[in-house]
Amino acid sequence: MKEKTIKHILTLEGDGREVLVEGWIRTRRDSKEVSFIAVNDGSTMNSIQVVLERTFPGYDEINPRLVNGASVSIKGKLVPSLGKEQSAEVSPLEIKILGDASPEEYPLQKKRHSFEFLREIAHLRPRTNTFGSVMRVRNAMSFAIHKYFNDNGFVYVHTPIITGSDCEGAGEMFHVTNFDLNNIPRVEGKIDYTKDFFGKEASLTVSGQLNAEIYALALKNVYTFGPTFRAEKSNTSRHLAEFWMIEPEMAFCDITGNMDTAEHFIKYILRYVLDNCADDMNFFNSMIEKGIIENLEHIAASEFGRITYTDAVNELKKSGQKFEFPVEWGIDLQSEHEKFLTQEVYKKPVIVTDYPKDIKAFYMKLNDDGKTVRAMDVLVPRLGEIIGGSERENDYNKLLGRINDMGLNEKDYWWYLELRKYGSAPHSGFGLGFERLIQFVTGMQNIRDVIPFPRCVDTLDF
Ligand code: 4AD
Ligand code: MG
Repeated sequence: MKEKTIKHILTLEGDGREVLVEGWIRTRRDSKEVSFIAVNDGSTMNSIQVVLERTFPGYDEINPRLVNGASVSIKGKLVPSLGKEQSAEVSPLEIKILGDASPEEYPLQKKRHSFEFLREIAHLRPRTNTFGSVMRVRNAMSFAIHKYFNDNGFVYVHTPIITGSDCEGAGEMFHVTNFDLNNIPRVEGKIDYTKDFFGKEASLTVSGQLNAEIYALALKNVYTFGPTFRAEKSNTSRHLAEFWMIEPEMAFCDITGNMDTAEHFIKYILRYVLDNCADDMNFFNSMIEKGIIENLEHIAASEFGRITYTDAVNELKKSGQKFEFPVEWGIDLQSEHEKFLTQEVYKKPVIVTDYPKDIKAFYMKLNDDGKTVRAMDVLVPRLGEIIGGSERENDYNKLLGRINDMGLNEKDYWWYLELRKYGSAPHSGFGLGFERLIQFVTGMQNIRDVIPFPRCVDTLDF
């Protein structure tokens, strides 16, 4: 398999050996005696050059069909190249055009298209340089994530997609039902979920955390990495309705251990991409976000900042900066505040801890002050929050109190409470938004351009 990719062929010397090149034509340039054809198969950023002489049998019929977007299978000899761009090129022996692409109709022209336009042709955008690079880096990062956890003794747990509990308590869940929507059973005006598929109300998960906690309190270190769903109507460059989240959960671990893991993990992923995706990263560095390689190198080698929410609020207030949302102790930090902290105050990633309990989820461990919880958000330049996590409340009564205070139904969380009744242990974890991390690594500005098929409010194509 690997032997046949253009990525592999490009590593070979032009010693006259026979190769088979299969891919899509990117460009063709005709000169007096020859045509230069660039073929790309997505295995790498780079295309291979095929040099077709006018004396090639059938040249006049074949050459006009060798156009941008057409798919070809070319047998040829790998020979030294005269051009400076590549060391070897293909001298064809046999050319098969597998699929034509009409130059008048093919939506991907040679010019640079806007990312907005490319979103409308999500079936063709993976053939562009940018999306090829994004998806190869996304793949490398997925692999690195599993490798990191595997190498560090974490067990991969597949937490459920369909759930009966709202982990974040933010009420942003999509319903899962097989009711006939034109004829929903009701009792006394209220929907009768006992007649629904599961016999109760069900939703798509917003986070695998609660289920991951169950496994952490048995297997010590676990993680889940899967799709999560939020019916958030935020039409921003950082929000998706379907996104992937990496969620480690660690027993016998406090908030400091949690922060250390988050920092170590992010740096590992950065290092992995820098070491393994050089071609794609060079592309991002020159075409998408100038200086990003140097920036990531710097971050991978330096310590993240750490600050409490209370101190962060004081920093923001004394900065004199005008914010759209004024800063007061107790507010949830907005993206503008997060960016200011990480870009202007720290100039590197920063972990903010100990947020007011009223703006955080019910499961976070209450501090002794009774006002703040052991939360930790990791903020990075250009994006703001990419990780949300905490030490978990492991005291039965305090947790029950929080569940009641927040108006949640304790019956829905009976099993979660029981984990605090039998062998409760300090434990912590966090959730990293995979797409936000990809944005951070590639410099891509819109989250819709780092996932193969974006799902957002009012958009569901492909
Ligand atoms: O801060 P959040 O809501 O934390 C949780 O869900 C915890 N249960 C995680 C845990 O402790 N195991 O979300 C975690 C991260 C955010 O920091 C952000 O990066 C990402 O998930 N995220 C989104 N990414 C894209 N689109 C959205 N709508 C997102 N909402 C959250
Ligand atoms: Mg959060």
